[in-house]
Amino acid sequence: MLRVGVFGVGHLGKFHLNNWKEINDVTLTGFYDPDDATSADVISKYGLKRFDTVDSLLDECDAADIIAPTSFHYDLCKTAITKGKHVFVEKPLANTMDEARELVKLAKEANIKFQVGHVERFNPAFLSLKGIALEPMFIEVHRLAQFNPRGTDVSVILDLMIHDIDIILSLINSNVKSISANGVAVMSDTPDIANVRIEFDNSCVANLTSSRISMKKMRKMRLFQKDAYIGIDFLEKKTEVIKLNTPADKNVFTFDIETNNGKKTIAIANPVVEDGNAIKMELQAFYNAIVNNTKTAVTVIDGFRAMDVAHQILEKIGHKHAG
Ligand SMILES: NC(=O)c1ccc[n+]([C@@H]2O[C@H](COP(=O)([O-])OP(=O)(O)OC[C@H]3O[C@@H](n4cnc5c(N)ncnc54)[C@H](O)[C@@H]3O)[C@@H](O)[C@H]2O)c1
Repeated sequence: MLRVGVFGVGHLGKFHLNNWKEINDVTLTGFYDPDDATSADVISKYGLKRFDTVDSLLDECDAADIIAPTSFHYDLCKTAITKGKHVFVEKPLANTMDEARELVKLAKEANIKFQVGHVERFNPAFLSLKGIALEPMFIEVHRLAQFNPRGTDVSVILDLMIHDIDIILSLINSNVKSISANGVAVMSDTPDIANVRIEFDNSCVANLTSSRISMKKMRKMRLFQKDAYIGIDFLEKKTEVIKLNTPADKNVFTFDIETNNGKKTIAIANPVVEDGNAIKMELQAFYNAIVNNTKTAVTVIDGFRAMDVAHQILEKIGHKHAG
């Protein structure tokens, strides 16, 4: 039995509690949350034990699941690692680059598993593309959300865009060459809307727009590569693959067009998107990495790299601090 302690049982923390309960061979030791009203609610709804201190909960568990506000990630992770506990921490990894750097060092030195909650890696739409070689040279992303004061302790870059940054870094095997960015703080003290262009050493260009002040929600990523267009709708959980010269397949709609280079066959497919709960899958993956002693699905280095790009973006925008 893996004993898990949950740190932070607010909005997302409750989703974690629900999902841990569905994972075999896991027992929830209890939770730590400084908010009395939230804690009372969790005690009554989940019958879970509330611990008064971070240390007392850590001492009774094997793994810490950290879903506190970002500004507390560093202290909580550090304490857990120092006690030799496995750590799952929500994104973004930490608040500042110094904190992130220190966590990479501590996690490497300790004999523990560390996973960062970049949950879009487990989005069923993204997973449906597993069998397709994704080698984009141009990426267009829109992640738009309605305003919600929750999460505005950090900019839209660290709150929302970081999901897309992580996905893109997981796809592009090349270093970032240059970044240009602009953002505007409309409703909060940090950018609420931003547009970013990232150029990679292999010439790939990613153009990302993120907003948390939109009327409508959207989470779309469009990948363009040598012989294909791939559309991923993270919100609607749909994908579309349009390819040149794909061999006939009964699930693929094809048609021919004349081009200056002769006749081309275009094939349009909608890969089957399996039903799935991304949070449960990421927690299950964390559990599997612990019991099988394998690499976590989203490592501390992945979390660091996403933060590094996010902070370079913030510097370009002019919010050089925690953002
Ligand atoms: N992966 C995702 O898609 C996603 C989505 C939403 C939030 N998040 C991340 O999850 C984290 C929490 O977000 P939320 O929306 O649940 O926020 P929230 O404000 O609803 O909940 C945070 C909870 O943490 C508690 N808390 C405060 N200080 C604490 C401490 N020192 N130790 C333990 N608990 C503490 C608060 O009392 C609150 O109950 C943030 O880091 C956020 O970026 C990730």
